[in-house]
Amino acid sequence: MKNQEEYFGTGSISNLRKILERTEAKKIFLVSGKKSFELSGAGKIFRNRFSDFEFEIFNDFGIIPEVKSVITGIERFRNSGSDCIVAVGGGNVIDTAKAVNILSFQELNPEEYITGKSELTDSGKYFIAVPTTSGSGSEATHFAVVYNGKKKFSLSDESILPDCSIIDPELTLNLPSEITAISGMDALSQSIESFWSVNSTEESRSYSEEAIKLVFENLTSAVCNPDIRNRTEMSKASNLSGKSINITKTTAPHAISYSMTSEFGIPHGQAVSITLGEFFVYNSGVSDKDITDPRGTAFVKENFGKLLNIMKCRSSDEAKNKIKNLMKSIKLKTTLKELGISEDFQINFISDNVNTERLRNNPRSVTRDELRNLLGKIK
Ligand SMILES: [Fe+2]
Repeated sequence: MKNQEEYFGTGSISNLRKILERTEAKKIFLVSGKKSFELSGAGKIFRNRFSDFEFEIFNDFGIIPEVKSVITGIERFRNSGSDCIVAVGGGNVIDTAKAVNILSFQELNPEEYITGKSELTDSGKYFIAVPTTSGSGSEATHFAVVYNGKKKFSLSDESILPDCSIIDPELTLNLPSEITAISGMDALSQSIESFWSVNSTEESRSYSEEAIKLVFENLTSAVCNPDIRNRTEMSKASNLSGKSINITKTTAPHAISYSMTSEFGIPHGQAVSITLGEFFVYNSGVSDKDITDPRGTAFVKENFGKLLNIMKCRSSDEAKNKIKNLMKSIKLKTTLKELGISEDFQINFISDNVNTERLRNNPRSVTRDELRNLLGKIK
């Protein structure tokens, strides 16, 4: 796997100058969120400390990474003559920037690669990721989510991992409580899913373990009483969750979440975490009949025992309630009804549009009926 240069900690954004100077970048393609760029304080930092660099700013896109934004970005990036990309923002900003960078240097149309019909052949320009939320961990992964209409795709290639990441928790200090809550639950879901993923390794589980502990210890206070200490811990948790799924990829709660986001507009972290507790109970009940992990039932059961220990719970039901209580403490919704999904046809739509690629990483197989049944429990 490609080596990434990483800077972490308060004030670490100051390293950006030496990185830009070292890469001899004359013009920088800056991909950012519209509001978050100013709210995070990044706007001020770039105006005050980097005014001697030439920037082309790209921020004309919405809250989910979409093909049409990527295509606009590619045109802007190619015409700008920039020598590197700096992405400053949440997961959608970093994912959009990743897709723009890699797809600007391929021979064929972007859709060819997004839909997985063609292999990526070029690795793009030097890429620096600067997260301003604590959730997606996108700065630490080698994939990028892109929606084509309402369908979710994932670009995946070793070269997509940012060359450099700068995680400065100060940039998350002004993050609104709702976004802190939503992105924090994405970090938790990614870490828990990574822990039980069929692709988990000792290394990935050590990242997950630390991230899970950090989220349970710090998310409520980061949402309700934010300070630099709990923000720093959440930045760390998010980054570790990214490192864990970079190895394992996500599983069933992510697989079922994408249509909730694209069809019903439910924010990503809310959509993934709403089924997390139920999948915890479901997956821990794995047997020889429905196991998908080649390491066997005893291994998966033992892994769940470790996961319960990390969460300081004695049973999967207790773990489910612990997740639910955490969500309630940060004012997230724990039922589909609260999210405006109450009709059977809506629930059927979600279960019929599950992402089968991510579902394959789940340790226990799940049929459409079981998905419906599980969604019925959080109705
Ligand atoms: Fe996620």
